[in-house]
Amino acid sequence: WPPVVTSPRGHLAIGGADALGLVERFGTPLYVLDEAAIRRRCRAYREAMGDAGVVAYAAKALCTTAVLRIMDQEGLWLDLVSGGELHTALSAGFPPARVLLHGNNKSDEELRLAIEVGVGRVVVDNFHELERLAAMARAAGRTVPVLLRVAPGVEAHTHEFIRTGQQESKFGFDLATGQALEALDRVLDEPALDWYGFHCHIGSQILAVEPWEQAARIMMDLAAEAHRRTGRFVRELDLGGGLGIRYVPGDEPPSIAETVTRIRTAVARLADERGLPVPRLILEPGRSVVGEAGVTLYTVGSVKRVPGLLPYVAVDGGMADNPRYALYRALYTAVLANRPLDEPAERVCLVGRYCESGDVLIPEIDLPRVEPGDVVAVFSTGAYNYSMSSQYNRFPRPAMVLVRDGEAAVIVERETYDDLVRHDRIPPSLAREG
Ligand code: LLP
Repeated sequence: WPPVVTSPRGHLAIGGADALGLVERFGTPLYVLDEAAIRRRCRAYREAMGDAGVVAYAAKALCTTAVLRIMDQEGLWLDLVSGGELHTALSAGFPPARVLLHGNNKSDEELRLAIEVGVGRVVVDNFHELERLAAMARAAGRTVPVLLRVAPGVEAHTHEFIRTGQQESKFGFDLATGQALEALDRVLDEPALDWYGFHCHIGSQILAVEPWEQAARIMMDLAAEAHRRTGRFVRELDLGGGLGIRYVPGDEPPSIAETVTRIRTAVARLADERGLPVPRLILEPGRSVVGEAGVTLYTVGSVKRVPGLLPYVAVDGGMADNPRYALYRALYTAVLANRPLDEPAERVCLVGRYCESGDVLIPEIDLPRVEPGDVVAVFSTGAYNYSMSSQYNRFPRPAMVLVRDGEAAVIVERETYDDLVRHDRIPPSLAREG
């Protein structure tokens, strides 16, 4: 890894398409998605899950109508967090009955839309939401299926994980102080709400399975307590998303198959040990479905060589299309797409074109000697790149193409300068005189 496959022209190939061919046709920067790679991961999740439960794609990782259409075709559910994501799903024709609606501060408008279209589950985060949802469901004469989100006190940081008695989190009902069970009492008192179970999410880019096994234990203890207290069984247990992917050589996440199988096995065993029926398992992967399926192509503009410093290789994108180094010091790897097999000749700093020093894509990377006009391919950009992109410095957002069997189709148009001013208004007070 990284997966360097070459085209007949000797360029990097993505999903069977020549990367330089894509650049000639669609320009740069360009987000490229390999459809087969996405579908393989959807299938790995579904096969490992079998009849034990459902896989809900966390659309926050990458949300466009074409991507959600693929998730529909692959039989996944969706984990959505906003009215905008829900609107995208509805625009893609995604059945709302397979949608979970998340959010720690859902608006009345979002809850109303969720009730109206009949989303599969509303994942209730707090007491205020619980009251509003119940009142709105009653008013609409509907019964809303709900999960209760719990802060389980398991926090996973990639390899190591720490357990805190009282996790500080803005998400979910607190476990340690008994609020999760109070919320359950409240839901069970409310005929307009139909309780399915509990949810938790322990982190992202997790590179070991143990944190989920630990979360499963805490959640099944909660399920046992809920049963003692109310006589009700947990029908569903949602353990969130978080499986990590490969960004740089050396990253070794457990496979999707291993992760899901071990979580499934743990939940079944834990239920058995507690004399509870095995709940239907829900997982909400985002990054591990689309992350490695994405590559971003950039054209090199200036190369600045200053004695004593790493050469600065500046490309035509940067922190607005991929803010993850600026935000998290996240690392990536890259090759030159026009000569991917050339030996590395120098260590460079790959930067963007945005007006601040923090606009770095990769702080240190070994590449062949880079010249203006070279095309850089950055790997594993499918998740949390486009979905966190901005128009900083008023650069239009890049296009996104989906590649299948060597054929590319635009799934997000490149923004234009007119798009940048489309929502701008000049008030009458600023009208030109004369
Ligand atoms: N479910 C819930 C409730 C979540 O909060 C998240 C991610 C997921 C599922 C999906 O997690 P995944 O499988 O993608 O790790 N912007 C950050 C990642 C934020 C993740 C937030 N929640 C980044 O670029 O790394």
